[in-house]
Amino acid sequence: MPRFSDRYDTLPAYPLAHIPARKRALLAAGVDVIDLGAGDADLPAPPEAIAAMHQALDVPAMHRYGFGMGYVPFREAIARYMHERFAVTVDPTTEVVPLIGSKEGLAHIALAFLQPGDVAVVPDPAYGAYMGGTLLASAEPYVVQLTARNGFLVELDDIPADVLTRTRVVYLNYPNNPTGATAPREYLERVVRRCVERDILLVYDNAYAELGFDGYVPPSIFEIEGAREVAIEFHSVSKTFNMTGWRCGWAVARPELAGALARVKNFIDTGSFLAVQVAATAALEARHAFVPGNVAVFRERRDAAVAAFAAAGFACAAPQAAMYLWVPLPEGIVSARFADRLREQEGVIVMPGSGFGQGGEGYFRVSFIESPQRTAIAAERAGRVLAQLQAEGEHEDEHQRLATANFVVAAS
Ligand SMILES: Cc1ncc(COP(=O)(O)O)c(C=O)c1O
Repeated sequence: MPRFSDRYDTLPAYPLAHIPARKRALLAAGVDVIDLGAGDADLPAPPEAIAAMHQALDVPAMHRYGFGMGYVPFREAIARYMHERFAVTVDPTTEVVPLIGSKEGLAHIALAFLQPGDVAVVPDPAYGAYMGGTLLASAEPYVVQLTARNGFLVELDDIPADVLTRTRVVYLNYPNNPTGATAPREYLERVVRRCVERDILLVYDNAYAELGFDGYVPPSIFEIEGAREVAIEFHSVSKTFNMTGWRCGWAVARPELAGALARVKNFIDTGSFLAVQVAATAALEARHAFVPGNVAVFRERRDAAVAAFAAAGFACAAPQAAMYLWVPLPEGIVSARFADRLREQEGVIVMPGSGFGQGGEGYFRVSFIESPQRTAIAAERAGRVLAQLQAEGEHEDEHQRLATANFVVAAS
């Protein structure tokens, strides 16, 4: 057996890895599966994107390598979007990096900025690419737990000085997956200031930039003074346009930082399918017509999920952004046990909080990827499983109490 690298051996199990196989088995067994697991909506992509893809398929040049430069009008559409939406000016040639989904960029950026002995600040719970990128770069993650008490924010001032001096990268993601948290502007100003003072790369994951509710408009990190010095921001068509499977995103940063990511990628990939970039360009151009209606669907699903899970006995607050409900479990109920039981017994797929890191223990995540009606059925089933686990827990406690009492009697 060929030997694995030490680096490879540091990778934890990937949280979603086993779920598709279990889902298939449950469906094959005739179970009415309700999948609220991955952030992967069942909604259609913009018709403009689909039409553009159809047309692009008939053009032979679109079937050739995209290379790092990709489809230039896509870069230009990104620059226009950044300007119109965030008042951020970027050069489409030197300050934009087209990506094969933002995930690969979030992971690959580590290869340009981290090496053994360096530290990356990684939130917990979090999207797995930050930890994955850090470990694949043989660097050391410093895990910061996101809690309701700290507003699910990473406070650099709370990190020990000896760790901070070795910190080269900080990963932030607001609107946040999985907690649904948003970052106040003064918080972002504080983080940017610290990163500038210490020359730390701020990797800002803005995958949910277009999923704000109730008037909340997620900012770009580049709206914050000083961010241009130290930040690279990641965007995606996945959630904004229901185009997860198309694998298309981009990074924006000043030329030195963007160029470093592009250089790493030159040795790893040869660009995404040009027809996908054509379609993403059409999606960006159709955003005014598409995004508000799409957000309204997610908001309706959010409200339905909050109401249904509350009625089923869960305490949960409505998030202002992203597409997830981060639901606390009563003390003593282990999230993986809850999620496994809910899936195997009731056919409902949710993500256990621990799947996003140990800091997620005590929660589970519900994605707004099913209709309000189906989500309500899922919540009812979840309530049944919760009641069972609580009853079993009380039973176990009682067992424990009797065993202890007997022991005390026997010993005396
Ligand atoms: C926080 C966050 N960042 C990035 C991504 C990756 O998106 P993409 O499809 O662009 O790779 C996801 C996907 O779930 C996410 O939740």
